[in-house]
Amino acid sequence: MSEKLIAAINEQINKEFYSSYLYLAMAAHFDANALPGFARWMKVQSQEEWGHGMRFYEYLADIGEPVVLKPIALPPLKFGSPREVFNQVLEHEIAVTASINALFELARKEGDPKTEVMLHWFIDEQVEEEKNARDILDQLSMAGDQSFGIAFLDRSVLGARKADD
Ligand code: FEO
Repeated sequence: MSEKLIAAINEQINKEFYSSYLYLAMAAHFDANALPGFARWMKVQSQEEWGHGMRFYEYLADIGEPVVLKPIALPPLKFGSPREVFNQVLEHEIAVTASINALFELARKEGDPKTEVMLHWFIDEQVEEEKNARDILDQLSMAGDQSFGIAFLDRSVLGARKADD
């Protein structure tokens, strides 16, 4: 496999682990603000992102290429309202989609069909990731800034997220 592609996949591992860290920081924000359901959703999301990083890790390990772990950047220390946080989630996921698409283009350019096929799973996953953020933003719009609407979403919607959702 080309050095360029190995480096780009290792970079993506770092981005996925950063995503895990970012969502964990958002979970801590919600835990500190008495929104345990939102915090639960973020903890499940954080685990999912760890899984994405590991999926790339296992791919490199399976084909005998080096996994190179780099420092994970610090996530922000402060976050805003649930709506502001989910706008950040959507923006972040759109950036991850662009990164996956660039990786796919690179695999194609470098003539690496097995990496293209491996990336199909991530391309599908990003459709789901962006949809999830948009759906929650729609629900937050309906709730407005009314605390009972936010409390309902916290208890009955986001707090109900299962570990594999
Ligand atoms: Fe790993 Fe949220 O994409």
